[in-house]
Amino acid sequence: MSDTTARKIIKVLMISLTLPMKSVYPQLLDGKALAQRIQDQLKAEVERLKSTYGRPPGLAVLMVGDHPASAAYVRNKERACTKVGIASFGQHFPADVSQSEIEQTIDRLNQDPNVDGILLQLPVPAHLNAVYLLHKIDPDKDVDGLHPLNLGRLLRGERGLQSCTPAGVMRLLREYRIDLKGKNAVVVGRSILVGKPIALMLLEADATVTIAHSRTKNLAELTRQADILIAAVGRPNLITADQVKPNAIVIDVGINRVIDAQGKSRLVGDVDFDAVREMSQFITPVPGGVGPMTVTMLLQNTVFSYTRTHS
Ligand SMILES: NC(=O)c1ccc[n+]([C@@H]2O[C@H](COP(=O)([O-])OP(=O)(O)OC[C@H]3O[C@@H](n4cnc5c(N)ncnc54)[C@H](OP(=O)(O)O)[C@@H]3O)[C@@H](O)[C@H]2O)c1
Repeated sequence: MSDTTARKIIKVLMISLTLPMKSVYPQLLDGKALAQRIQDQLKAEVERLKSTYGRPPGLAVLMVGDHPASAAYVRNKERACTKVGIASFGQHFPADVSQSEIEQTIDRLNQDPNVDGILLQLPVPAHLNAVYLLHKIDPDKDVDGLHPLNLGRLLRGERGLQSCTPAGVMRLLREYRIDLKGKNAVVVGRSILVGKPIALMLLEADATVTIAHSRTKNLAELTRQADILIAAVGRPNLITADQVKPNAIVIDVGINRVIDAQGKSRLVGDVDFDAVREMSQFITPVPGGVGPMTVTMLLQNTVFSYTRTHS
């Protein structure tokens, strides 16, 4: 081998040794791509079910008032239903609708054999009792997993309809073969919609789980010990790079609308993405991480509920 060739080989080796840090590491947990793959599978499954049983699965999304973020979420959900062939039975109520009118609608949908899933888009206006409305939904049609029976099943580690965002996070972690056994998981946020059910699911997967919230003292000390860090708060840049353990797996559930330096409105999570991605092993982008998985788990829960009815 000539000197020139040897020098070229050494140069290529040196370049390739320095490259991985920037080009391969860290990896994005691509919720958008995974959601698309699952939706393609669901579409084929829905077609098969329709030809076998004569009707498509049906989902009713109930929305009260015209909160712009909720309206966008509901539109997304209904669009996703159309894409995979799930029939929509949604109803949009004015902001001053009475509790009894929504209860009657839920009763009717509970009885409707064409409806497999019912979801009440939260939050609802303050004059409504959201907890009671959630209790009214038939647990077998509770595709948001918020009925006490389904939350109880989750607590016991039993199979049942599970809250969509936490289920989507777990699915994403499984897809990337992230081993959770014995890992330190810190969940920031303790809502019944996201924080608590994610913590239970991580516990079920044998992680050692800590839940933090607005009264937690020394949050950074806890987050710095996290092999798996889940941020589910709703505050842009709450989690900065100095609060994250090098090589951690970071799941950003937060969705916050901010105005950037150019005066443009954009969505960001709870994590300072640009800084944290440099030192984490895996990280979810916002948008394109957990959000698409949430919608997809809703579709999956609706199909699950349908197949259970027909089994
Ligand atoms: N990607 C998705 O598909 C998806 C789905 C659902 C929600 N989200 C987003 O996820 C975020 C959380 O949603 P959520 O429904 O769980 O919100 P939430 O009900 O408002 O709960 C927020 C949680 O964050 C805690 N918290 C507030 N400030 C904190 C602080 N400075 N330090 C530590 N913890 C703090 C609160 O603690 P306390 O309990 O002490 O008040 C609470 O437990 C929001 O941005 C929401 O838009 C995204």
